[in-house]
Amino acid sequence: MFDRNAPFNDLPPLPPTAELESKAILKKAITASRALAELKGMAERMPNQAMLIDSLVLQEARASSEIENILTTNDELFKAASDEALPASAEAKEVLRYRQALNHGFRQIKERPLATGLFIEIAQLIKETDFSVRRMPGTRIANSQNETIYTPPEGEAVIRDKLRELENFMHADDGLDVLVKMALVHYQFEAIHPFPDGNGRTGRILNILYLVDRSLLNLPVLYLSRYVIDHKAAYHEGLRRVTEEGAWADWVLYMLDAVEQTSLRTHQQITDILALMETVRERVQREAPAVYSKDLIEQIFRQPYCKIAFLERAGMGTRQTCSKYLRELERLGVLTGQKIGREVYFINQELYKLLTR
Ligand SMILES: Nc1ncnc2c1ncn2[C@@H]1O[C@H](COP(=O)(O)OP(=O)(O)O)[C@@H](O)[C@H]1O
Ligand SMILES: [Mg+2]
Repeated sequence: MFDRNAPFNDLPPLPPTAELESKAILKKAITASRALAELKGMAERMPNQAMLIDSLVLQEARASSEIENILTTNDELFKAASDEALPASAEAKEVLRYRQALNHGFRQIKERPLATGLFIEIAQLIKETDFSVRRMPGTRIANSQNETIYTPPEGEAVIRDKLRELENFMHADDGLDVLVKMALVHYQFEAIHPFPDGNGRTGRILNILYLVDRSLLNLPVLYLSRYVIDHKAAYHEGLRRVTEEGAWADWVLYMLDAVEQTSLRTHQQITDILALMETVRERVQREAPAVYSKDLIEQIFRQPYCKIAFLERAGMGTRQTCSKYLRELERLGVLTGQKIGREVYFINQELYKLLTR
Protein backbone atom coordinates (compact mmCIF):
# COMPACT_ATOMS: atom_id res chain seq x y z
CA MET A 1 0.00 0.00 0.00
CA PHE A 2 1.19 3.47 -0.83
CA ASP A 3 1.66 5.83 2.09
CA ARG A 4 3.03 9.19 1.12
CA ASN A 5 4.94 9.54 4.38
CA ALA A 6 6.73 6.19 4.14
CA PRO A 7 9.55 5.32 1.70
CA PHE A 8 7.87 3.68 -1.30
CA ASN A 9 10.10 0.60 -1.40
CA ASP A 10 7.19 -1.32 -2.94
CA LEU A 11 7.35 0.77 -6.11
CA PRO A 12 6.45 -1.86 -8.74
CA PRO A 13 8.83 -2.47 -11.66
CA LEU A 14 7.88 -1.59 -15.25
CA PRO A 15 5.82 -2.30 -17.25
CA PRO A 16 2.63 -1.59 -15.33
CA THR A 17 -0.33 -3.92 -15.64
CA ALA A 18 -2.50 -1.02 -16.84
CA GLU A 19 -3.85 -0.94 -20.39
CA LEU A 20 -1.26 0.88 -22.51
CA GLU A 21 -2.68 0.16 -25.94
CA SER A 22 -6.09 1.75 -25.70
CA LYS A 23 -7.46 3.41 -28.82
CA ALA A 24 -6.71 6.88 -27.41
CA ILE A 25 -3.08 6.02 -26.67
CA LEU A 26 -2.47 4.29 -30.00
CA LYS A 27 -3.97 7.23 -31.87
CA LYS A 28 -1.90 9.75 -29.99
CA ALA A 29 1.25 7.63 -30.36
CA ILE A 30 0.76 7.72 -34.13
CA THR A 31 0.40 11.49 -34.42
CA ALA A 32 3.22 12.11 -31.95
CA SER A 33 5.54 9.68 -33.79
CA ARG A 34 4.72 11.31 -37.10
CA ALA A 35 5.51 14.79 -35.82
CA LEU A 36 8.73 13.54 -34.26
CA ALA A 37 9.76 11.73 -37.46
CA GLU A 38 9.34 14.94 -39.42
CA LEU A 39 11.48 16.81 -36.94
CA LYS A 40 14.10 14.08 -37.13
CA GLY A 41 14.17 14.27 -40.93
CA MET A 42 14.48 17.99 -40.90
CA ALA A 43 17.25 18.01 -38.30
CA GLU A 44 19.20 15.54 -40.42
CA ARG A 45 18.88 17.61 -43.57
CA MET A 46 19.59 20.98 -42.06
CA PRO A 47 22.87 22.73 -42.63
CA ASN A 48 24.72 24.17 -39.60
CA GLN A 49 23.50 21.45 -37.26
CA ALA A 50 25.98 22.21 -34.51
CA MET A 51 25.08 25.87 -34.62
CA LEU A 52 21.33 25.33 -34.30
CA ILE A 53 21.64 22.69 -31.64
CA ASP A 54 23.82 24.97 -29.53
CA SER A 55 21.09 27.57 -29.36
CA LEU A 56 18.24 25.11 -28.82
CA VAL A 57 20.04 23.28 -26.03
CA LEU A 58 20.59 26.47 -24.10
CA GLN A 59 16.86 27.23 -24.12
CA GLU A 60 16.13 23.72 -22.87
CA ALA A 61 18.68 24.13 -20.09
CA ARG A 62 16.96 27.32 -19.06
CA ALA A 63 13.44 25.86 -19.18
CA SER A 64 14.29 22.62 -17.39
CA SER A 65 16.00 24.57 -14.61
CA GLU A 66 13.03 26.94 -14.43
CA ILE A 67 10.78 23.97 -13.59
CA GLU A 68 12.93 23.62 -10.46
CA ASN A 69 12.71 27.34 -9.68
CA ILE A 70 16.23 28.08 -10.85
CA LEU A 71 15.42 31.29 -12.64
CA THR A 72 17.56 33.18 -15.13
CA THR A 73 16.73 35.86 -17.65
CA ASN A 74 17.58 35.27 -21.27
CA ASP A 75 20.01 38.19 -21.29
CA GLU A 76 21.86 37.01 -18.25
CA LEU A 77 22.09 33.52 -19.68
CA PHE A 78 23.23 34.47 -23.17
CA LYS A 79 25.92 36.65 -21.65
CA ALA A 80 27.08 33.88 -19.34
CA ALA A 81 27.06 31.40 -22.22
CA SER A 82 29.11 33.74 -24.37
CA ASP A 83 32.10 33.32 -22.11
CA GLU A 84 32.11 30.92 -19.20
CA ALA A 85 35.02 32.82 -17.64
CA LEU A 86 32.86 35.90 -17.05
CA PRO A 87 31.31 36.36 -13.62
CA ALA A 88 27.80 34.94 -13.59
CA SER A 89 25.06 34.29 -11.06
CA ALA A 90 24.85 30.91 -9.35
CA GLU A 91 21.63 30.27 -11.30
CA ALA A 92 23.20 31.03 -14.67
CA LYS A 93 26.08 28.70 -13.85
CA GLU A 94 23.67 25.97 -12.88
CA VAL A 95 21.83 26.35 -16.18
CA LEU A 96 25.11 26.15 -18.10
CA ARG A 97 25.96 22.98 -16.22
CA TYR A 98 22.67 21.46 -17.37
CA ARG A 99 23.74 22.10 -20.95
CA GLN A 100 27.11 20.56 -20.25
CA ALA A 101 25.46 17.49 -18.69
CA LEU A 102 23.18 17.05 -21.69
CA ASN A 103 26.05 17.34 -24.13
CA HIS A 104 28.08 14.90 -22.08
CA GLY A 105 25.23 12.38 -22.13
CA PHE A 106 24.78 12.77 -25.87
CA ARG A 107 28.46 12.06 -26.53
CA GLN A 108 28.60 9.16 -24.11
CA ILE A 109 25.62 7.14 -25.37
CA LYS A 110 27.47 6.57 -28.63
CA GLU A 111 30.08 4.66 -26.68
CA ARG A 112 28.40 3.08 -23.69
CA PRO A 113 24.97 2.04 -22.53
CA LEU A 114 22.42 4.49 -21.24
CA ALA A 115 22.51 3.09 -17.71
CA THR A 116 22.99 3.90 -14.03
CA GLY A 117 26.65 4.91 -14.37
CA LEU A 118 25.71 7.59 -16.86
CA PHE A 119 22.64 8.71 -14.89
CA ILE A 120 24.98 9.37 -11.97
CA GLU A 121 27.44 11.35 -14.07
CA ILE A 122 24.65 13.50 -15.47
CA ALA A 123 23.29 14.32 -12.01
CA GLN A 124 26.82 15.06 -10.76
CA LEU A 125 27.45 17.47 -13.60
CA ILE A 126 24.16 19.29 -13.02
CA LYS A 127 24.73 19.62 -9.29
CA GLU A 128 28.53 19.94 -9.47
CA THR A 129 28.97 17.50 -6.60
CA ASP A 130 30.33 14.00 -6.39
CA PHE A 131 27.22 12.55 -4.79
CA SER A 132 25.86 9.23 -5.92
CA VAL A 133 22.76 7.15 -5.35
CA ARG A 134 21.17 8.16 -2.04
CA ARG A 135 22.52 6.47 1.08
CA MET A 136 20.77 8.57 3.67
CA PRO A 137 17.07 8.58 4.41
CA GLY A 138 15.11 11.81 4.49
CA THR A 139 14.49 12.71 0.83
CA ARG A 140 10.87 13.56 0.15
CA ILE A 141 8.78 15.44 -2.39
CA ALA A 142 6.67 18.20 -0.94
CA ASN A 143 4.05 20.53 -2.37
CA SER A 144 4.18 24.31 -2.09
CA GLN A 145 2.63 24.11 1.40
CA ASN A 146 5.55 21.88 2.39
CA GLU A 147 3.28 18.86 2.86
CA THR A 148 4.89 15.58 1.88
CA ILE A 149 3.24 14.15 -1.20
CA TYR A 150 5.71 11.38 -1.92
CA THR A 151 8.59 9.64 -0.17
CA PRO A 152 10.86 7.76 -2.58
CA PRO A 153 12.40 4.34 -1.84
CA GLU A 154 15.21 4.23 0.69
CA GLY A 155 18.36 2.15 1.01
CA GLU A 156 21.16 2.25 -1.52
CA ALA A 157 20.78 -1.42 -2.49
CA VAL A 158 17.02 -1.04 -3.01
CA ILE A 159 17.53 2.03 -5.18
CA ARG A 160 20.26 0.40 -7.26
CA ASP A 161 18.07 -2.67 -7.82
CA LYS A 162 15.24 -0.51 -9.04
CA LEU A 163 17.56 1.36 -11.37
CA ARG A 164 18.82 -1.94 -12.76
CA GLU A 165 15.24 -3.06 -13.41
CA LEU A 166 14.60 0.26 -15.10
CA GLU A 167 17.64 -0.16 -17.36
CA ASN A 168 16.50 -3.65 -18.33
CA PHE A 169 13.09 -2.33 -19.23
CA MET A 170 14.56 0.53 -21.27
CA HIS A 171 16.61 -1.82 -23.41
CA ALA A 172 14.16 -4.74 -23.63
CA ASP A 173 12.62 -5.68 -26.98
CA ASP A 174 9.07 -5.93 -25.77
CA GLY A 175 7.22 -4.48 -28.73
CA LEU A 176 5.99 -1.46 -26.76
CA ASP A 177 6.01 1.87 -28.56
CA VAL A 178 9.22 3.78 -27.75
CA LEU A 179 7.37 7.01 -26.95
CA VAL A 180 5.07 5.16 -24.57
CA LYS A 181 8.15 3.60 -22.99
CA MET A 182 9.75 7.01 -22.62
CA ALA A 183 6.70 8.15 -20.64
CA LEU A 184 6.86 5.09 -18.39
CA VAL A 185 10.60 5.49 -17.89
CA HIS A 186 10.27 9.14 -16.94
CA TYR A 187 7.69 8.34 -14.27
CA GLN A 188 9.75 5.45 -12.95
CA PHE A 189 12.95 7.44 -12.77
CA GLU A 190 11.21 10.24 -10.87
CA ALA A 191 9.53 7.75 -8.54
CA ILE A 192 12.87 6.07 -7.75
CA HIS A 193 14.28 9.57 -7.23
CA PRO A 194 17.78 8.11 -6.89
CA PHE A 195 19.65 11.27 -5.92
CA PRO A 196 19.44 13.78 -3.09
CA ASP A 197 18.66 16.48 -5.70
CA GLY A 198 18.68 17.00 -9.47
CA ASN A 199 16.27 14.14 -10.22
CA GLY A 200 13.83 16.23 -12.24
CA ARG A 201 16.53 17.62 -14.50
CA THR A 202 18.37 14.32 -14.85
CA GLY A 203 15.08 12.63 -15.74
CA ARG A 204 14.33 15.19 -18.43
CA ILE A 205 17.79 14.76 -19.94
CA LEU A 206 17.19 11.00 -19.97
CA ASN A 207 14.05 11.50 -22.08
CA ILE A 208 16.00 13.00 -24.93
CA LEU A 209 18.92 10.60 -24.61
CA TYR A 210 16.50 7.69 -24.69
CA LEU A 211 14.98 8.85 -27.98
CA VAL A 212 18.45 9.21 -29.50
CA ASP A 213 19.48 5.83 -28.10
CA ARG A 214 16.41 4.20 -29.70
CA SER A 215 17.09 6.05 -32.99
CA LEU A 216 13.91 8.11 -32.94
CA LEU A 217 16.26 11.07 -33.24
CA ASN A 218 19.86 11.39 -34.35
CA LEU A 219 20.42 14.79 -32.85
CA PRO A 220 19.27 16.15 -29.51
CA VAL A 221 16.55 18.52 -30.73
CA LEU A 222 13.39 17.53 -28.86
CA TYR A 223 13.09 19.51 -25.67
CA LEU A 224 10.00 18.95 -23.58
CA SER A 225 10.65 21.38 -20.73
CA ARG A 226 8.84 24.31 -22.34
CA TYR A 227 5.74 22.14 -22.63
CA VAL A 228 6.13 21.08 -19.01
CA ILE A 229 6.31 24.71 -17.88
CA ASP A 230 3.17 25.51 -19.85
CA HIS A 231 1.42 22.50 -18.29
CA LYS A 232 3.21 22.33 -15.00
CA ALA A 233 0.35 21.51 -12.66
CA ALA A 234 -0.61 18.60 -14.91
CA TYR A 235 2.99 17.36 -14.86
CA HIS A 236 3.06 17.10 -11.09
CA GLU A 237 -0.53 15.81 -10.93
CA GLY A 238 0.24 13.23 -13.56
CA LEU A 239 3.22 11.81 -11.68
CA ARG A 240 1.34 11.82 -8.40
CA ARG A 241 -1.76 10.15 -9.83
CA VAL A 242 0.26 7.29 -11.29
CA THR A 243 1.50 6.47 -7.79
CA GLU A 244 -1.78 7.00 -6.00
CA GLU A 245 -4.30 5.74 -8.54
CA GLY A 246 -2.34 3.89 -11.21
CA ALA A 247 -3.44 6.60 -13.66
CA TRP A 248 -1.00 5.51 -16.36
CA ALA A 249 -3.14 6.29 -19.37
CA ASP A 250 -3.41 9.98 -18.50
CA TRP A 251 0.32 10.19 -17.84
CA VAL A 252 1.21 8.51 -21.13
CA LEU A 253 -1.20 10.77 -23.02
CA TYR A 254 0.38 13.80 -21.36
CA MET A 255 3.86 12.80 -22.47
CA LEU A 256 2.72 11.89 -25.98
CA ASP A 257 1.07 15.27 -26.34
CA ALA A 258 4.28 16.89 -25.08
CA VAL A 259 6.23 15.08 -27.80
CA GLU A 260 3.74 15.98 -30.50
CA GLN A 261 3.37 19.65 -29.61
CA THR A 262 7.08 20.12 -29.04
CA SER A 263 8.00 18.44 -32.32
CA LEU A 264 5.63 20.69 -34.25
CA ARG A 265 6.83 23.80 -32.47
CA THR A 266 10.51 22.96 -32.89
CA HIS A 267 10.00 22.16 -36.56
CA GLN A 268 8.46 25.58 -37.04
CA GLN A 269 11.16 27.25 -35.00
CA ILE A 270 13.98 25.71 -37.02
CA THR A 271 12.19 26.62 -40.25
CA ASP A 272 11.96 30.22 -39.09
CA ILE A 273 15.59 30.36 -38.01
CA LEU A 274 16.79 28.96 -41.33
CA ALA A 275 14.59 31.41 -43.24
CA LEU A 276 15.92 34.32 -41.21
CA MET A 277 19.46 33.17 -41.82
CA GLU A 278 18.83 33.05 -45.55
CA THR A 279 17.34 36.56 -45.54
CA VAL A 280 20.29 37.93 -43.60
CA ARG A 281 22.76 36.08 -45.81
CA GLU A 282 21.28 37.59 -48.96
CA ARG A 283 21.23 41.05 -47.50
CA VAL A 284 24.79 41.01 -46.28
CA GLN A 285 25.98 39.55 -49.57
CA ARG A 286 24.20 42.30 -51.47
CA GLU A 287 24.77 45.29 -49.20
CA ALA A 288 28.13 44.50 -47.65
CA PRO A 289 29.93 42.15 -50.05
CA ALA A 290 33.31 43.18 -48.67
CA VAL A 291 32.63 41.62 -45.27
CA TYR A 292 30.34 38.78 -46.35
CA SER A 293 31.36 35.21 -45.71
CA LYS A 294 29.49 32.03 -44.87
CA ASP A 295 31.47 31.80 -41.63
CA LEU A 296 30.43 35.27 -40.57
CA ILE A 297 26.74 34.47 -40.99
CA GLU A 298 27.16 31.25 -39.05
CA GLN A 299 28.91 33.04 -36.21
CA ILE A 300 26.10 35.53 -35.74
CA PHE A 301 23.54 32.72 -35.68
CA ARG A 302 25.41 30.52 -33.25
CA GLN A 303 23.83 32.43 -30.41
CA PRO A 304 22.19 35.85 -30.21
CA TYR A 305 25.01 37.50 -28.24
CA CYS A 306 28.06 37.66 -30.50
CA LYS A 307 31.46 39.03 -29.55
CA ILE A 308 34.55 39.99 -31.49
CA ALA A 309 36.45 37.25 -29.70
CA PHE A 310 34.17 34.58 -31.23
CA LEU A 311 35.20 35.57 -34.73
CA GLU A 312 38.84 35.74 -33.74
CA ARG A 313 38.60 32.30 -32.17
CA ALA A 314 37.00 30.98 -35.37
CA GLY A 315 40.10 32.15 -37.24
CA MET A 316 38.35 34.94 -39.14
CA GLY A 317 41.15 37.47 -38.75
CA THR A 318 42.73 39.91 -36.37
CA ARG A 319 40.75 41.60 -33.67
CA GLN A 320 40.60 44.72 -35.80
CA THR A 321 39.27 42.88 -38.84
CA CYS A 322 36.70 40.99 -36.79
CA SER A 323 35.59 44.20 -35.15
CA LYS A 324 35.13 45.76 -38.57
CA TYR A 325 32.92 42.85 -39.66
CA LEU A 326 30.60 43.20 -36.69
CA ARG A 327 30.49 46.99 -36.90
CA GLU A 328 29.49 46.70 -40.52
CA LEU A 329 26.65 44.33 -39.63
CA GLU A 330 25.63 46.78 -36.94
CA ARG A 331 25.57 49.56 -39.53
CA LEU A 332 23.25 47.44 -41.69
CA GLY A 333 20.96 46.91 -38.70
CA VAL A 334 21.52 43.16 -38.68
CA LEU A 335 23.13 43.38 -35.23
CA THR A 336 22.70 45.79 -32.34
CA GLY A 337 25.86 46.79 -30.50
CA GLN A 338 25.65 46.98 -26.74
CA LYS A 339 28.35 47.67 -24.20
CA ILE A 340 27.77 45.83 -20.95
CA GLY A 341 30.51 46.36 -18.39
CA ARG A 342 33.76 45.86 -20.22
CA GLU A 343 32.23 43.59 -22.85
CA VAL A 344 30.84 44.69 -26.19
CA TYR A 345 28.08 42.45 -27.51
CA PHE A 346 26.59 42.44 -30.97
CA ILE A 347 23.08 41.20 -30.55
CA ASN A 348 21.13 39.40 -33.24
CA GLN A 349 17.71 40.66 -32.14
CA GLU A 350 15.69 38.72 -34.68
CA LEU A 351 17.34 35.46 -33.70
CA TYR A 352 16.83 36.36 -30.06
CA LYS A 353 13.10 36.75 -30.70
CA LEU A 354 12.82 33.41 -32.48
CA LEU A 355 14.66 31.55 -29.75
CA THR A 356 12.82 33.08 -26.83
CA ARG A 357 9.25 33.50 -28.06
N1 LIG B 1 4.58 13.04 -6.99
C1 LIG B 1 5.74 12.86 -7.61
N2 LIG B 1 6.24 11.64 -7.77
C2 LIG B 1 7.43 11.44 -8.38
N3 LIG B 1 8.18 12.44 -8.88
C3 LIG B 1 7.75 13.69 -8.75
C4 LIG B 1 6.51 13.97 -8.13
N4 LIG B 1 6.32 15.31 -8.16
C5 LIG B 1 7.39 15.83 -8.77
N5 LIG B 1 8.26 14.88 -9.14
C6 LIG B 1 9.55 15.00 -9.85
O1 LIG B 1 10.53 15.50 -8.96
C7 LIG B 1 11.28 16.53 -9.62
C8 LIG B 1 11.99 17.41 -8.62
O2 LIG B 1 13.01 16.63 -7.99
P1 LIG B 1 14.45 17.23 -7.65
O3 LIG B 1 15.37 16.13 -7.20
O4 LIG B 1 14.33 18.40 -6.76
O5 LIG B 1 14.92 17.67 -9.10
P2 LIG B 1 15.76 18.99 -9.44
O6 LIG B 1 16.90 19.22 -8.55
O7 LIG B 1 16.13 18.82 -10.88
O8 LIG B 1 14.99 20.08 -8.95
C9 LIG B 1 10.23 17.20 -10.49
O9 LIG B 1 10.77 17.93 -11.56
C10 LIG B 1 9.44 16.02 -10.99
O10 LIG B 1 10.06 15.45 -12.12
MG1 LIG C 1 15.65 20.25 -6.65
